[in-house]
Amino acid sequence: MADFAPFDRRNYPTVGVREGYRLWQPVYETAVFDRMDLALLERLETPRWTEISAAADLGCGTGRIGTWLSGRGIAAIDGVDVTPEMLAVARGKNAYRKLIEGDLRASGLDAKAYALVACSLVDEHLPSLEPLYCEAARLLETRGRFLLVSYHPFFLMAVGMPTHFRHPDGRQISIETHLHLLSDHVAAARAAGLILEEMHEARVDEAWVARKPKWQDYRGWPISCCSLWRSAGSPA
Ligand SMILES: C[S@@+](CC[C@H](N)C(=O)[O-])C[C@H]1O[C@@H](n2cnc3c(N)ncnc32)[C@H](O)[C@@H]1O
Repeated sequence: MADFAPFDRRNYPTVGVREGYRLWQPVYETAVFDRMDLALLERLETPRWTEISAAADLGCGTGRIGTWLSGRGIAAIDGVDVTPEMLAVARGKNAYRKLIEGDLRASGLDAKAYALVACSLVDEHLPSLEPLYCEAARLLETRGRFLLVSYHPFFLMAVGMPTHFRHPDGRQISIETHLHLLSDHVAAARAAGLILEEMHEARVDEAWVARKPKWQDYRGWPISCCSLWRSAGSPA
């Protein structure tokens, strides 16, 4: 694993995950851009969404991913998140069967109960990827798939920007951010018995620049990536 600190060019005051998302929650959904994750989900070719009986959403936050999955016809979605204020918003979405406050690395959800485990825009907050991949592998039924959307490590390194938000008092605040190279993902997945099936990368495009004009010099840089993993023992 690489340390993010040497790449950090913002040096904002940094808070832990729970405190950070407690403070960010009131404006979180206005800040996160669907091109970061939802647009990547649209590019997946393998999942047959309507055949998925149950899905788990690890680090479900305010329920954006659960809402998207529900819109694809998945009826039973269980979410886990460590920040109660984020979960309170997810509860209002009516997309979830069950929502649990807790750490996704020991989710408390049933083993082998999910055809899909999703985790979007969370892994940069974990010091190590192994517990995430292990928990996803534990939850998956035999032919299940793990769907991960991550901040692109290249973007974090090149721009030197941790996950951050503007506090209502005007200060910029970082939330504890860690760097995971693509090879770190492959190693953690392999250790958990998962292999890569699909990967897509989102780049900064015109829509991004229209939203963030200061990013015009980053046009074309990869900003996020989406990967789909399945059990090494299950047929393709
Ligand atoms: C950037 S938000 C993403 C939320 C949602 N997945 C989405 O795409 O909008 C990150 C979320 O991960 C949660 N989180 C971070 N670390 C976690 C952990 N170890 N266990 C459970 N939730 C965690 C935070 O509380 C926050 O709600």
